[in-house]
Amino acid sequence: MKTEGSNPDMEGEDTMFNQHHLRSLENWSKEDIQTVLTLAHDIKQHPENYRGELSGKTLGMIFEKKSTRTRVSFEVGIYQLGGVGLFLSSNDLQLGRGETIADTARVLSRYLDIVMARVYGQNTIDELAKWADIPVINGLSDTYHPCQALTDFFTMTERFGPDLAGRKFTYIGDGNNMAHSLMLCAAKLGIHVAIGCPKGYEPDSKITAAAESAGHGAEVLVTDDLKAAAENADVIYTDVWASMGQEEEQELRLQAFDGFMVDQRVMNYAKKHALFMHCLPAHRGEEVSAEVCDGPQSIIFDQAENRLHTQKAIMVALHRARNGNQ
Ligand code: CP
Ligand code: NVA
Repeated sequence: MKTEGSNPDMEGEDTMFNQHHLRSLENWSKEDIQTVLTLAHDIKQHPENYRGELSGKTLGMIFEKKSTRTRVSFEVGIYQLGGVGLFLSSNDLQLGRGETIADTARVLSRYLDIVMARVYGQNTIDELAKWADIPVINGLSDTYHPCQALTDFFTMTERFGPDLAGRKFTYIGDGNNMAHSLMLCAAKLGIHVAIGCPKGYEPDSKITAAAESAGHGAEVLVTDDLKAAAENADVIYTDVWASMGQEEEQELRLQAFDGFMVDQRVMNYAKKHALFMHCLPAHRGEEVSAEVCDGPQSIIFDQAENRLHTQKAIMVALHRARNGNQ
């Protein structure tokens, strides 16, 4: 356990340190991921068994960006676990007036039991985790969205069973925060990943390399050939072409992604039983056709519901890890 004010270095920390934060999925093992997926399953089946798990505990939720699912699922989730959530807009915190992340993290650690943050720079999450004595959860940064990725593979287990190894997961679109977290999570679970994206919009090559070296037998393909990406897939996933913070690139991106919409033609490259997934919010007629988004292969609202069960599992697992009763 870190001592307050000890200025710990992120690199080289032990496994327990990594396990009591969810900064990205890079430092999480396959077993860590499976612990959360199994817990999410149990929490969804037996919510009553977890009603007092975080009794009297407080979750702070810092938001630099907008949110529907993340905010509501965490706030409802902590309430259902017996605790309370505090919505903290970054504009209203002293952070917005230049108080350091290090001081904010150390102060919040004196009041809260868990902090979740949705931010622009991943360095904000890393800095919070470096200084906080309580679990820090990344509720989306420009680089990662691990809570959504864990939810999505939990949702896949409901359809395909607990062992997803050997399945093919295809993501079509921007090599963004979603692509990064999905790629890392899939590779760690032994799921083959194909990313279909226009040239110039590939995922970060360092994150692709991390997925390639995950060591669980997963193949990783990044290509601008939609058919090669989609063929034989068990899941076709997409996300918006312009993420939060990229609004002024909207027009440019509409042109760059021309031909990359997930429509029935793309779904037909995949396996017959293939599922369509999207983290939401969706733009029908841009990254996905309305026919696919609202069609029989789509499980987008199961994903949205499962944010609740999975956020609860993440909070329970990290709180247990932090307090040594895993
Ligand atoms: N998928 C997701 O994170 O949704 P929100 O932006 O609404 O939180
Ligand atoms: N890539 C999207 C995901 C939203 C949940 C964004 O960052 O805006």
